[in-house]
Amino acid sequence: MPAIVVYESLWGNTAAIAHAIGEGIGEGTLVRHTGEIEPAEAASAHLLVLGAPVHAFNLPTESSKKSVAERPLTPGDFAPDVSQPPLRAWLEGLPQASAVAAAFDTRVRGPLGHGGASRIEKALTELGYRIADRSQGFYIVNQKNVKAAASMLRAGEIDRAHEWGQLLASRA
Ligand SMILES: Cc1cc2nc3c(=O)[nH]c(=O)nc-3n(C[C@H](O)[C@H](O)[C@H](O)COP(=O)(O)O)c2cc1C
Repeated sequence: MPAIVVYESLWGNTAAIAHAIGEGIGEGTLVRHTGEIEPAEAASAHLLVLGAPVHAFNLPTESSKKSVAERPLTPGDFAPDVSQPPLRAWLEGLPQASAVAAAFDTRVRGPLGHGGASRIEKALTELGYRIADRSQGFYIVNQKNVKAAASMLRAGEIDRAHEWGQLLASRA
């Protein structure tokens, strides 16, 4: 089976990081959001990488996404995609496996940012996956109004994600 990267993303920032990681891992890597792949299929990967944004120091919930959906958009704002199942719920369906795996999140730099990737890594470890490298946080600029997909990422984060993908591939 190929390597698989699964993500959840509202404004495309986590998606952009997921795709850069997938390109770094190499040709044939599947990159899918949580609505596009069943956990059972993902569990057959030889390398599984999972990522989500940090919401309230943790993984997003239906409730955090609802609060986003209810926010009024200002003219020109890029609308969030709140339709993807939360990775938190998707993880509950992930079967046990001994494949190599890794976790990442997107977050604000500093103490506010903790709690997403470490949750995913803990779930993976409990299911028997072998962690290839410690979980990574990729940083966003704290913007209020989003005018384009993936526009919150700090400069250099896409390159860092690509390099991390290469490292993960070397360990799988
Ligand atoms: C409801 C909500 C809560 C958030 N809470 C945090 C937080 O506690 N810490 C943090 O670093 N970022 C927080 N953020 C910022 C998100 O991490 C940011 O929106 C995300 O990285 C963007 O990725 P996406 O475009 O893939 O959704 C929060 C965002 C939202 C919408």
